[in-house]
Amino acid sequence: MRVRAASIRDTISWVFQPRGRRGFPELLLDVQNLTKSYVTYHKDPGLRGAIKALFHRVPVAVEAVKPVTFQVARGEFVGLLGPNGAGKTTILKMLTGLIAPSAGRAIAFNEYNVSNRPVRYLERIGMVMGQRNQLNPDLPAIDSFRLAQAIYGVPDNEFQQRLDQMLGLFEAHELIRKPVRKLSLGERMQMEMTLSLLHGPELLFLDEPTIGLDFVAARRIRNFLKAINASLGVTVILTSHYTKDIEELCRRVILINKGTCVYDGLLSQVDERIHGQREVEILCAGETVAMHVAAAVKAHGSASPVVASKDDGTCSVQFFVTPRSVAQWIKVVTGTVEASGIVDIKISEAELETVFGELYARGV
Ligand SMILES: Nc1ncnc2c1ncn2[C@@H]1O[C@H](COP(=O)(O)OP(=O)(O)O)[C@@H](O)[C@H]1O
Ligand SMILES: [Mg+2]
Repeated sequence: MRVRAASIRDTISWVFQPRGRRGFPELLLDVQNLTKSYVTYHKDPGLRGAIKALFHRVPVAVEAVKPVTFQVARGEFVGLLGPNGAGKTTILKMLTGLIAPSAGRAIAFNEYNVSNRPVRYLERIGMVMGQRNQLNPDLPAIDSFRLAQAIYGVPDNEFQQRLDQMLGLFEAHELIRKPVRKLSLGERMQMEMTLSLLHGPELLFLDEPTIGLDFVAARRIRNFLKAINASLGVTVILTSHYTKDIEELCRRVILINKGTCVYDGLLSQVDERIHGQREVEILCAGETVAMHVAAAVKAHGSASPVVASKDDGTCSVQFFVTPRSVAQWIKVVTGTVEASGIVDIKISEAELETVFGELYARGV
């Protein structure tokens, strides 16, 4: 990623963002301490466990989302990023009114409390979940589109215009007459996206829209999303665990780990702050040497070094440093253990993926 270019682009697009009444971008979503805990029941394995659970159920609370607070302005493209089980889907479900939060609230368009599921709100949003179909698999997509048109009461000319626009972006006019079941995963996702936009939503929620897609199909979806955000002005909130999606689409990222927001800000700043760093990997002859190295690195104030054992009996110590201090760190390491204890030293630019991993682990 080119940091300079990204920062300048960010500034320019911020200046040209649609404004609200007071000159600031109009607030579409105001999320305050939104929290969700699910109650599940503990069950011992096997038939005995099943019978026992019939008479005595032990409730277990899963804190899927700890209080999260953020705002989204009109025109933004926000990426909710986090590992599996972080709570991303739960957040989207709360924001679309599918489930009620345990605490906190989200106000949309300055007027709707989303957990009350006001009809006017539902008419102004769209949602696509990568792992769930809204299209009827037995019918051609056009039939589901017509049904959506009837439900939302979209006038014929508007419907036709939007449909042409979406299908034009995907170059997918011929797909709408095939039964959805016969479409490839990528084609089906194109039809799902089209369906979600036919009623002209201002805010679109996407849950892992590129999951399971090959490289080419995922790129098509990304290009489509770029276009609807840039030219139609649709505000998009997207969850993904693919860094590629986020890197290409989102100016702003909210990183979620274990239900907590660990970073909320411009992607370019994550980049400047951490991506510009170097990843140092010291391959040690064994665990004892690695522990010595890790302790020395820690004592000199680096971010927490990660120690990992390899199959061949060696052990690596990995940590991040600024480019200028690399030499100094190598000195610290080589001064701690015998030269024979060190098998290899690798210094590389940190990948965005690794950077996010680091952020999940320690926050910013
Ligand atoms: N209906 C549910 N009942 C109980 N636990 C759930 C339910 N849905 C999700 N969870 C748990 O909540 C956590 C967050 O899940 P989810 O929001 O799906 O994460 P993500 O989308 O980031 O992968 C996980 O630990 C998951 O097991
Ligand atoms: Mg999910």
